[in-house]
Amino acid sequence: MNILLIGYGKMGRAIEALALSRGHQIAGIIDPSRPDVQLDQFGPHNADVAIEFTHPDAAFANVQACLRQGLPVVCGSTGWLHHFGEARALAQEKGGALFYASNYSVGVNLFFHFNEYIAAKMHQFGGYDVQVREIHHVHKVDQPSGTALTTAEGIMRHYPEKKRWRNDPAQAPDELAIISERLAETVGTHVVTYSSPVDVLELKHEALSREGFAHGAVLAAEWLPGKQGVFGMKDLLGL
Ligand SMILES: NC(=O)c1ccc[n+]([C@@H]2O[C@H](COP(=O)([O-])OP(=O)(O)OC[C@H]3O[C@@H](n4cnc5c(N)ncnc54)[C@H](OP(=O)(O)O)[C@@H]3O)[C@@H](O)[C@H]2O)c1
Repeated sequence: MNILLIGYGKMGRAIEALALSRGHQIAGIIDPSRPDVQLDQFGPHNADVAIEFTHPDAAFANVQACLRQGLPVVCGSTGWLHHFGEARALAQEKGGALFYASNYSVGVNLFFHFNEYIAAKMHQFGGYDVQVREIHHVHKVDQPSGTALTTAEGIMRHYPEKKRWRNDPAQAPDELAIISERLAETVGTHVVTYSSPVDVLELKHEALSREGFAHGAVLAAEWLPGKQGVFGMKDLLGL
């Protein structure tokens, strides 16, 4: 496949390396560092799909341009979802294809899926306390992580008695604890723990590098061409 890369930062470079290793070609690279290459030079005649990892302020315009130019687009930039309805409408109007995920890691998306399955079962049988723990490197400023929040929301969907999460040990039965730890070398670990007086059950995802995101984005780019509509990781993974 001929892949157009939009954004050539940490993710764009990781995606390039992985795409080449899977036998794909890079149709072009759009990035402020390469001002002689412009997005409007690309369309179905010279690219099969675009992968967009840029910046919250740039993503929507890039997605719009791809859809208008007939390019299926896989977008990973975060922070532009207030425009998502418009992007969806444009994809529909143009008969185009848009893939979006706030987290492209296959492992994390399977973790979300199993998290909800386990939460439903544990709630059905009862007798366990549940908590979420996230561990990241010391430079991560925001807490809890977005992945921890999605995990907590997935649990609360099956625990109606949990009304809110607390970024600390729970202080009341209607709170779900999200414990955040910051350790030097940790890329990102999320653990859901169910404890009873007789046993402990844990579901854990540990990210080892950002290549997990690149892998999911390239899988999405391989999957998207030829489809029409708006898709996400559940569609790709059949969840
Ligand atoms: N969905 C996921 O799984 C996932 C995973 C990781 C990251 N992300 C998101 O992906 C985005 C990129 O992450 P990153 O780590 O690769 O960031 P990064 O290292 O800062 O790279 C972004 C690149 O895009 C360039 N850029 C900015 N505006 C552009 C435009 N209009 N057209 C083309 N290129 C443009 C930047 O150039 P300048 O430096 O000159 O501005 C930079 O080279 C962020 O929003 C991040 O949150 C998502």
